[in-house]
Amino acid sequence: MDYKIADLSLAEWGRKEIDLAEAEMPGLVALKERYRHRKPLAGAKITGSLHMTIQTAVLIETLVELGAQVRWASCNIFSTQDNAAAAIAKRGIPVFAWKGETLNDYWWCTLQALSWEEGPDLIVDDGGDATLMVHEGYRLEEQYKQTGKLPEVDAENAEMRIVQELLINQLTIDPYKWHRAVKCLRGVSEETTTGVHRLYQKRDEGTLLFPAINVNDSVTKSKFDNLYGCRESLADGIKRGTDIMVAGKIVMICGYGDVGKGCAQSMRGLGARVVISEIDPICALQAAMEGYEVNTVDNMVEIADIFITATGNCDVIRVDHILKMKNNAILCNIGHFDNEIQVNKLYEMEGVEKVNIKPQVDLIKLPNDKAIILLSEGRLVNLGNATGHPSFVMSCSFSNQVLAQIELWQNEHEINVYTLPKKLDEEVARVHLPKLGAQLTQLSKKQAEYINVPIEGPYKQDYYRY
Ligand code: NAI
Repeated sequence: MDYKIADLSLAEWGRKEIDLAEAEMPGLVALKERYRHRKPLAGAKITGSLHMTIQTAVLIETLVELGAQVRWASCNIFSTQDNAAAAIAKRGIPVFAWKGETLNDYWWCTLQALSWEEGPDLIVDDGGDATLMVHEGYRLEEQYKQTGKLPEVDAENAEMRIVQELLINQLTIDPYKWHRAVKCLRGVSEETTTGVHRLYQKRDEGTLLFPAINVNDSVTKSKFDNLYGCRESLADGIKRGTDIMVAGKIVMICGYGDVGKGCAQSMRGLGARVVISEIDPICALQAAMEGYEVNTVDNMVEIADIFITATGNCDVIRVDHILKMKNNAILCNIGHFDNEIQVNKLYEMEGVEKVNIKPQVDLIKLPNDKAIILLSEGRLVNLGNATGHPSFVMSCSFSNQVLAQIELWQNEHEINVYTLPKKLDEEVARVHLPKLGAQLTQLSKKQAEYINVPIEGPYKQDYYRY
């Protein structure tokens, strides 16, 4: 039994939802059609660390259809849809994910997904946790080799201590696991902004151990999933969590990047008065010219009703902010990690009491006799309180993932971080148009020459910003 999930009996329900989702995922269907016979991923052993949702199930099955073997874990403790995991397990694909994992479970699951007899050859990562585990495992093995002594847990961060403990235990069983893995690894394709930041950081420090493709910065990923995906799934998460009337409320959104822009549209669409905080003057000016108030958390903390962090940065909403908030203010995060709001620090505070209302919704009583409503413990609200983005937009993201995996498997790359060529980006967009009934205009030869682009694309230079 090479899986660990919540309940296998949910498989049939999961299968029905996967079939429905597939009809909304024309990019993945087109890739399956195109490559079904050529099997460009034949022989590849792929580890996935990406939210185990219904849409991800369609991605997994596409990778398998193209010839890969797959082992999968989720990249967040709350994001698994148990029926999706069950349907994947039922197909005999190893999957280690359930909704409501502990952090210890989470890293155990990541380790299982990375545990091949030989491999993995490729990683599909979202947020960089699988990549982090390989790098930390490799570093600890090096240390062990050099000193002859088992390394000690020395991380300051509590979550990283869990990772180190697991890896040090692993060292006693197999002291070369990660060195062998790195030898096999042809690369990782990374899904999200935060994971991509980690990759560039490693590349710049010279510590990146294998090639990487930045899927996030394909235009058909970040300008669609981060923006239009969050525009729908943010409201879904807040509504399922709280049933709150958004119209007329003051909603503070921290960060006006791609995600923040989608969130702002979403809340404005429901009739909220949206206030943006930004550190980047360009994004702040964009927000102001879109008609949003731009202000600081410090200035808005006693006024706003709902706070949403979307920065990919830490300590954006601090404990001292929380203590000043209105009674029953709603607090949530849609950025990748849970350090945007100081949740851990809040729990350490004397006189703070957590009253669970339902899964992923907590009333946090504060020592000042007020309370706030915290969604998904400050983790991704759209995946914790709802089911993430709709299938159609995930089809855009995952088409890029599949193309990146094929590229890494078919061609050798130097260790660096790459993006996919614009031609492929345009191709991903092209296959999604018919589903929406969109008619693309065809360039004439004269027009193509006039604007100096090939008739068949690419239509823009790399510096174009969309
Ligand atoms: P981005 O880099 O486009 O935008 C983040 C913005 O936050 C930037 O404009 C930056 O200037 C601003 N910022 C940074 N520190 C700040 C601070 N202290 N206060 C106010 N603003 C601050 O990144 P993007 O693509 O919008 O992603 C944001 C986060 O959301 C990342 O962690 C990403 O991985 C995650 N993400 C989550 C998704 C979901 O489904 N929940 C989907 C896609 C991305």
